[in-house]
Amino acid sequence: MSSTTRPRGRTLNALVVAAVLAATGALVPTLATADPSAAATAGRPAFTPSARVSGLINQMTLDEKLSFVTPSKDPLNPGAVTSGSAAYLPGVPRLAIPPMRYTDGSAGLRLPIDATAYPVSTMVGSTFDPDLAQTFGSTYGTEARAANQDVLLAPMVSLIRVPQGGRNYEAFGEDPLLVSRMAAGEVSGIQDAGVIATIKHFALNNQETNKGNVSANISEQAFHETELEGFAAGVKAGAGAAMCAYNKVNGVYSCSSDELLNQILKTQLDFQGYIMSDWGVTRAVTDMNAGLDQEMYWVGIQAAKFTTGLRTALTDGTVPMSALNDSVGRILTSMEAVGLLDGAAATRPTFDLATGAAMAQKIAEEGGVLLKNNGALPLTAGHTISVFGPGSVTPKVSGVLSAEVKSPNAKSPLQAITERAGAGATVTSVPAIPTTPTALQAAGTAAAASDIAIVFVADTISTDRAISLTTQQNDLINTVATANPNTIVVLNAGSAVTMPWLDKVAGVLDMYYPGVNGAQATAALLYGDVNPSGKLSQTFPVSDTQTPFAGNTAMYPGVGNVVDYSEGVNVGYRGYQAKNITPLFPFGYGLSYTSFSYSAPTVVQHGDTVTAKVTVTNTGTRAGKEVPQVYAGASPTVTAQQAQRKLVGFDKIELAAGESKVVEIPLDMHQFEYWDSTSHSWKLGTGVRQFWIGSSSANLPLTASADVSHFDVSATTTVKPLAGKAYLSVAATNNATTSVDIVITTAYGNKTFTAVEPGTTVSVSINSKLATVPAGSASVAVTGKVNGASLTETKSAPYAAYPTS
Ligand code: BGC
Repeated sequence: MSSTTRPRGRTLNALVVAAVLAATGALVPTLATADPSAAATAGRPAFTPSARVSGLINQMTLDEKLSFVTPSKDPLNPGAVTSGSAAYLPGVPRLAIPPMRYTDGSAGLRLPIDATAYPVSTMVGSTFDPDLAQTFGSTYGTEARAANQDVLLAPMVSLIRVPQGGRNYEAFGEDPLLVSRMAAGEVSGIQDAGVIATIKHFALNNQETNKGNVSANISEQAFHETELEGFAAGVKAGAGAAMCAYNKVNGVYSCSSDELLNQILKTQLDFQGYIMSDWGVTRAVTDMNAGLDQEMYWVGIQAAKFTTGLRTALTDGTVPMSALNDSVGRILTSMEAVGLLDGAAATRPTFDLATGAAMAQKIAEEGGVLLKNNGALPLTAGHTISVFGPGSVTPKVSGVLSAEVKSPNAKSPLQAITERAGAGATVTSVPAIPTTPTALQAAGTAAAASDIAIVFVADTISTDRAISLTTQQNDLINTVATANPNTIVVLNAGSAVTMPWLDKVAGVLDMYYPGVNGAQATAALLYGDVNPSGKLSQTFPVSDTQTPFAGNTAMYPGVGNVVDYSEGVNVGYRGYQAKNITPLFPFGYGLSYTSFSYSAPTVVQHGDTVTAKVTVTNTGTRAGKEVPQVYAGASPTVTAQQAQRKLVGFDKIELAAGESKVVEIPLDMHQFEYWDSTSHSWKLGTGVRQFWIGSSSANLPLTASADVSHFDVSATTTVKPLAGKAYLSVAATNNATTSVDIVITTAYGNKTFTAVEPGTTVSVSINSKLATVPAGSASVAVTGKVNGASLTETKSAPYAAYPTS
C-alpha cells in the first residue's frame, strides 16, 4: 500500500516554485525550499555507512581522504584526467582499499584499447525492452571490470527535450517512463556486474548550446514529473554514483546547488551513493557543503577547487571535516556495494569482445526502426544493388567525445550487404557524397542501373545539431530516388532528422549509431533475417519550424542565459499533442514486416496496480515482435497541469504468424500520481481515467476506462501497561479516497471496522493478558471495492517488545 500523499524516499524539506524577476525581466519559475533561508543551509543529510566503512574512515589520514574526492592520473591510462576521458583514485593499499578507475561513457569503454562499441542510447531506448537494457548493462559492466575499470560514467538518464540536442543520442528518449525503465535496467545490470553506474547529468543538461552558462528554469511540478523520473529510477535500481551537470537549474549551478544535491537527490530520492562533478564544473570548495562529493576536472585546463583549496577550507572551517568524512563514506559505500572492498572481488573476468559484439548486434537488431516500407523491403537475395554514401564503406559506429569508443573491427555495411546479397547479386558502391552536378548525375545513373539503391546518410553531432541532413545528402537521396523507385534510405542519425524526400523513397530504416556489429544488424533487418521491432524513443518533426519550441527562443536555445521550460509536463510527444502538431513520425512508432491487430482492451485495478489487458494478433505471414503501448488521460480530480495522454505502460512481445496473445501490462500506481507543488509531494490523481492502447503515441485504436483509486491505510502500534497487564493498541487511518473495511488482527485478539470513511482513524486496544509482550506485528487487512471488484490488501504494523529492555 502506498499513501495518496507521499514524498518519495525520505521526507523532503519541501520545494516551492517562487516567481522571481529574472534578469530578462520575465517572470520565471525557480526552485527554492518552502523556507528560502533554509535552502542555503539545509546541508548534508544524515548518512550512516556500514561498520566496515566507518572503521575504514576512522583509520584514514587526511591526505588519504582528500585523495578520494579529487582525481589523480591513472598509471594505466595516462590520458585519463588530462584529457577528461576518465579518472583514477589510488585507494589506500595499507587498508586494502583498492584503486578505482573511471571510464566513459554511454555506449562503450572510452579507453586507449579496443573495446565494444555498443549502439547509442537512443537505439537502446528504441528496443523498448528493459530486460535487454539490463542484459546490456551486465555485459557492458563485465567488459568494464575486465578492462580494470570500476566506475562507468553511464547511463545518461536526462530526457531528450529538443530534437537539436547535440548529445541526444546519449539519452534513452523523450518519455519519462521509457527512460526510467531503460535506466533502471541498465543501472542494475552494470551494478550487478560489480561496477558502479553513474546516472548523469543531474540535472536538465538537455542542450549543448551555451550549456556552461545557461539556466534551465523549470517548475517544481514539471521537474518532478519529467527529468527527475529517470534519476529516481536509477537511484532505486542501485546506482552508486551520480554526476551533476554543467548548466544551472533555476539560477544555481547544478554542482553548487544544495537544493538539487542535498535536498532532492540525497534526501528526497534517498540516494545513498556519491555525487561527482561533471568535468571542470566544480565552482568552489563550498560545493562540498552543497552535497558535491567528488571533483572532476581537466588538469591544466580548469583551476581545480577541491584539489587546491579543500585542505585550507577544512582548516578554516569553510568546509566541515564531517562533510569530507561523509563524502568519503559515500564513495566507500558505493565501492562496498559492488564488492570492491571484498578482497576476493579482485578477480576480474576475461576481456571478451565477442560477447560484447553479440550484445551490440542484438541491441541494433532490436532497436533499428523501420520508418517506411512500401513493400520494397525485406530485400531478397540476388539483384543488382548500388550502395551510396560514406557510411556504407566507413561504418558509423559510435558517437563522439565521451561517447566515442575505439572499436576498429566494425564491418562496413557494403561488405555486410554484399555477403548477405549472395552469389547471384552484384553490389556496387558510390561512397562519396556528390558535390558537383556531374557527380550527382553519375549517382543517378548508377542508381538507375540497379534493381535496388541503398543510401546511407548521417547527421553531425557534439554541439547542438541541425535536424536536417546536409543539403548534399538530401540532394543525393532525391536524385537516387528519382532514378530508382526501389530506393532505401538507411539513417545513421543519433536523434531525429527531417526527411523532405520521404514521399519519393521506398523505405527508410533508422539504424542510429549501431555499434560494432551495426553493419551485420543493418543487413539482417534489410533482408528480414530479423524482423524489425524497434520503436522511436523520440518524436521526429516534419521540420524545425514544426516543433513545440519553434519560434520560441525563450524555450530553446534560451534568452539571456535562461531557458524557459514552459512546456511544463508536456515533454516530447505530449507537447506535439498539446499544440496539435502532427509530427513526421510519432513517439513509439516503428514498422514490422508483419502486421498486428489489437482487440479486447480492458483496464482494471487490483490493489496498487492497474492492469491493462489487450489481445494482440499477428495478422501477417511471418513471426514478429510488437510493442503494445498504454497511454492514460488526465485525472478529473486534478487541477495541476496534466498531459492529454501519457505513456503509462508497455511491453514487448513476440508472436508467430497468425498467433494471438492476451497481453497483460501492469501499470504502476505511480503513473497516476502527480507532483503537488503545494504539499510538495506525490498525490494520486483519482477518478475515472481514459486509456488508449495501440502501437504508437499516435496510433491508439482502442480505448478503455477505469476508476483509479487507492487503498491507503496507515497503521501505528503501541504497547502500554494498565493494571499490571500490557495492552496492545493499533490505530489505522484510511487515507484513501474510497471507504474501506478494516480488519485488525493481533496475537491477542481481532477487531473489524466496516465502511471506514476516507480520512477516518479507527483504533482498538487489546489486553494481552500478559505483563510483558514480545516484539511482534499486528496485521491490518483492508477490503473495499474498486471498479466494482472486491479487493483485499494486508499490511503489517510491527511493534517493539514491552518493556523495552
Ligand atoms: C561529459 C561527461 C563525461 C566526462 C568525462 C564531460 O565533458 O559531459 O558526460 O562523462 O566529460 O569524460
